Amino acid sequence: MKEFNIDKIREDFPALKEYVYLNSSSISIMPLPVQESLKAFMNKIAYAGTVSFDEEAEIASVENTRSASARLFNCSEENIAITSSATEGLCQIAWALKPKGNIIVVDIEFPSGVTPWRRVAMETGAEIRFVNVKDKPADLFIDQIRDLMDEETSVVCVGHAQYSNGVRFDLKELAGLCHDNNTKCIIDATQSAGVVPIDVMDTDVDALVAGGYKWLCGPFGAAIVYIRESLKNEIEPVFVGWRSMKNPYIFDATRYEYNDGLRGYEYSTMSYSAGYALGESINYIMDLGIENIFKQAILVANYLMEKLDEMGLEILSPREESRRTGSVLVRFPGLDGEEVAKELTKRNVIVSPRFNATRFSCHFFNNYDDIDKAVAVLKDILEEMR
Ligand SMILES: Cc1ncc(COP(=O)(O)O)c(C=O)c1O
Repeated sequence: MKEFNIDKIREDFPALKEYVYLNSSSISIMPLPVQESLKAFMNKIAYAGTVSFDEEAEIASVENTRSASARLFNCSEENIAITSSATEGLCQIAWALKPKGNIIVVDIEFPSGVTPWRRVAMETGAEIRFVNVKDKPADLFIDQIRDLMDEETSVVCVGHAQYSNGVRFDLKELAGLCHDNNTKCIIDATQSAGVVPIDVMDTDVDALVAGGYKWLCGPFGAAIVYIRESLKNEIEPVFVGWRSMKNPYIFDATRYEYNDGLRGYEYSTMSYSAGYALGESINYIMDLGIENIFKQAILVANYLMEKLDEMGLEILSPREESRRTGSVLVRFPGLDGEEVAKELTKRNVIVSPRFNATRFSCHFFNNYDDIDKAVAVLKDILEEMR
């Protein structure tokens, strides 16, 4: 494991000299060593095609990421697929399960956690049940899921952490509730993977997806899908193609046998450069220690919350560290929080407008100095707008 030295880490993110970057919930910045590996990977192929990128290299580009993902989530590589996006992973799972009965989702969920189930429900007649917390997004609790659950509940699909304010479920408790009810527990960890430690074996979730370009500091075009062994054996991939097949490089259209592990869910030529770089970024994070990363993100987010409290602002993220990530959603009474976010970004404090509020996302490369700068700019903006 590398030393967690914040000053050294910041040197890997040159953008931090120019910007106060608090936007990892949207798109993260990529560490220099990962940028360099990505460029080298792409240049080699651009220069000489298959001379450097033969079948072995094609397989290795995703296999390395598979083992990095297994390291990230503490599971076997055989339960990991590398897809092009988190949404693709959720669609694959939703169609493979094709659930009937009712499906529980959350009204503040990122749309990709809901729309695949709604589409499947059009075929199966399943009922979609929403946990409604739009008015109080920090007050999202497992009890609300329990209240909606009955013997017909086939699936609960929720974000481990919510995209708007980082409110986070205890996965072990949630999976326990689901399994006691014979319900599948499907998790979108796009807003937590890379900042919150996740152990899929210990938590016992059925399936989990995570996009790569947010807290994992990877590129667009690659995501991770985990499906537990027992569920893997119960369902079949719905979208299949040449890469889904065992020994895909035989290119024999008369054969039909799925590739090992979850490779059957990888059906076509993907952006291998993205797949490769995601593995590099996961290893960068794991080498620093995911516990250290979580600690730093929470430390900086706590400092930000303190400052926002001093200013008397309305914080829409939970207070308990066990129920959040590095994201802090804040409203400014009497002002449009989305306008404030745009103004901050114009002044090089990079944040996002969400829910009529401003979302600040603190990651492991942020420090107190970033927060002091952001708060100073925020004070100026609020004074001008009032
Ligand atoms: C929780 C969550 N899931 C999924 C996505 C979309 O992921 P992708 O673009 O990889 O499909 C986002 C994007 O903001 C998200 O926040």
